[in-house]
Amino acid sequence: MHAETSPLSPQAAAALIAWFRDAGIDALVSEAPRDRFAETAAEAAERAERPAHPPTPEGRAAVAVPAGSPAQPAERALPQGEAEAGGAFPATAVAVPDEIAIADARERAASAATLDELRETLAGFTSCNLRLTASSLVFGDGDPQADLMLIGEAPGREEDLAGHPFVGRSGQFLNRMLEAIGLERDRVRVTNTVPWRPPGNRAPTPAETEICRPFLTRHIQLVRPKVLICLGSPSAKMVLQTQEGILRLRGRWTSYSFGLGPGETIPAMAMLHPAYLLRQPAQKRHAWRDLLSLKEKLDALAAGSA
Ligand code: URA
Repeated sequence: MHAETSPLSPQAAAALIAWFRDAGIDALVSEAPRDRFAETAAEAAERAERPAHPPTPEGRAAVAVPAGSPAQPAERALPQGEAEAGGAFPATAVAVPDEIAIADARERAASAATLDELRETLAGFTSCNLRLTASSLVFGDGDPQADLMLIGEAPGREEDLAGHPFVGRSGQFLNRMLEAIGLERDRVRVTNTVPWRPPGNRAPTPAETEICRPFLTRHIQLVRPKVLICLGSPSAKMVLQTQEGILRLRGRWTSYSFGLGPGETIPAMAMLHPAYLLRQPAQKRHAWRDLLSLKEKLDALAAGSA
């Protein structure tokens, strides 16, 4: 016998969709089968026929997106009949080649003169896939002129809902770590390598990281902190441009210079991520040592002897 299905209430439907989104599901399955192999082959054939750089109206090859003309995500065309059938496959791909998205990001980030402008610019930046599944932009928070800037990996579920970095369990632990060396959270600047939550909390891809990099670099330039701390391996690898493992890297002072004035550097250090410390409490002894080293550095800078 066929069980009768009762329609979901709007609240239950919304909860189900939120659950799908949190689990990283970003495409729906339609009633009719769909041959993805045939579609891919057709797309490849179509691409092969197109010129690599389509000519612009002026006849020049388009290699970069001009300022003020956002690289709009091109919606993937649905096969005939499916759009009318309710468009079972939402457009989830931002069809902007990575190099163009990165060039666009560089140009836009460089044109932001203040943190507010940078936030606005990011809010209007459509060339990164991550924004399609995120609920909000998590730009960063804390003192815009802080001496200390902390960079995490990516917003999680709580941060995505709140629109602020490090507000969940690991954020609360981070606050306690800072308090342990006499720092209040709102006196430091906090942001992440990417400003949108990756679906299902997966790691950002290298392309997503590179597309977001110019915004992070500009964020650092505009805050001009005296000390930079990378929380966890992905942040350390991206910001300090190293492939070394976090367990070897943590606690060692290095310098950050990217995008600062000529010859200008600031001390930078990687620390273990608070979420990792919550999972591996035995590692907290390393974090404590690193926090003491950070306090020493900040005190020395304040005294003008670092
Ligand atoms: N983990 C991060 O790396 N960043 C956040 O904002 C929250 C958790």
